[in-house]
Amino acid sequence: MNDALHSMLVKSPKEVFAQLPTGRVGEADRNYINEVLDAGFRNTTDPAGIFGRMETAFAERFGVGFAVLHNSGTGTMQSCLLAAGVGPGDEVIVPPLTAVATAVVVVQCGAVPVFADIDPDTFNIDPADVARKITSYTKAIIPVSLYGLAPDYDGLMALAAEHDLTVIEDNAECFLGEYKGRMVGAIGHAASFSFQASKHMTSAGDGGVVITDDAEYAKNIRKRATLGYATLGAKPGDVFVPRDVRQDIDFERHDVMGYNFRMSAAQAALALGQLERLDALVAARIHIARMYQQVLDEEQCDWLIPPVVPDGCLHTYWTWVCKLDEERAGVDWRTFRKAFIANGGDGLYSAWRPVHLEPVFRNLAFYARPEQAPNHDPRYGGSVKSYEPGDCPTCEALQPRLCQFKTSMQSLDAVESQVNALRATIREINRS
Ligand SMILES: Cc1ncc(COP(=O)(O)O)c(C=O)c1O
Repeated sequence: MNDALHSMLVKSPKEVFAQLPTGRVGEADRNYINEVLDAGFRNTTDPAGIFGRMETAFAERFGVGFAVLHNSGTGTMQSCLLAAGVGPGDEVIVPPLTAVATAVVVVQCGAVPVFADIDPDTFNIDPADVARKITSYTKAIIPVSLYGLAPDYDGLMALAAEHDLTVIEDNAECFLGEYKGRMVGAIGHAASFSFQASKHMTSAGDGGVVITDDAEYAKNIRKRATLGYATLGAKPGDVFVPRDVRQDIDFERHDVMGYNFRMSAAQAALALGQLERLDALVAARIHIARMYQQVLDEEQCDWLIPPVVPDGCLHTYWTWVCKLDEERAGVDWRTFRKAFIANGGDGLYSAWRPVHLEPVFRNLAFYARPEQAPNHDPRYGGSVKSYEPGDCPTCEALQPRLCQFKTSMQSLDAVESQVNALRATIREINRS
């Protein structure tokens, strides 16, 4: 399944970069966009149109039956939750170390996000804490493949089976990753991907897709993403309603509530072009991560600590992340960042603040008044499901130490300048 990617990983970085266009738009992308422009936007439900081709190609690449394009990797998860029956009175377990989207979609379904702590070695959601956080209200888990590395799916899927939970993979940062020989994206009940500008592949800056092997779930996800049209099917063009029926004055169109999370045809066209070189796009990031890692090895740097990649997992490095051991390094995070930039580093990102401690969650600022938050549900018997420091201690201790190095460079020269900046910074700190 992932042979094409593995064959790129044994090539040199130079050979891989040679397969990529300069910049982010290639000839195939432009050709597909021109095709859409020439077609005059009339191919929305045609399976041979741009949406049908992109969805079929994406699903096939992951070995599943269905893909549903969306306008973001946030709407994707909301459609999945709604289609799984998640609503007011329910809880959904999410990690605290993620983009806010993973938790916000739960609130947007009227349900309560519950944060399970992370594993200190992989930085991913810890099934042991998920087990502790499951209640009779829990309906789903959204595990995140953080920075491109899959979480412990064996543990998570076992819990899901035991408690009848839906698992929605948040793979916004993980394309073509592997977990114990399986494609990340084909493990949970559905998987969400983001095509936002910073991701491995993009659909012109924003976009997303859900994949699943379950036809009924795919159909319901599509309906939730498309204003609840009753006639929609799992695949574009699946349901044929005769024109005389569709055009009749008594024709009822909507049988469930849905949002408008549709992607545009021009975005689907660009995404199809990108998908054709996804192996090279992912391989380039893995090669960049290897080059950073080589610096750590050569400089014998024991104070920048990347996550442990468990056996059988392929990390796809949306970014290359390390924990800074401030004591061993003898510098704090901000000093390290300044030194990296002074040595030619192109910025150094912190990890997001733990989501449960962002003001929106701490203050239950979901609606005009905190009492309107689903966390005040009468099922809680008058108490409030609140979010406090100490809820996820491992994440809270780790987050301020995380350093995110870029893997999105478009040329080997740009990669080398970042790798050299890291080497110079390590040498400078080791000397001082
Ligand atoms: C882990 C994670 N989940 C969800 C999202 C949301 O994706 P989007 O920006 O496409 O809505 C992102 C990125 O932005 C992300 O990194």
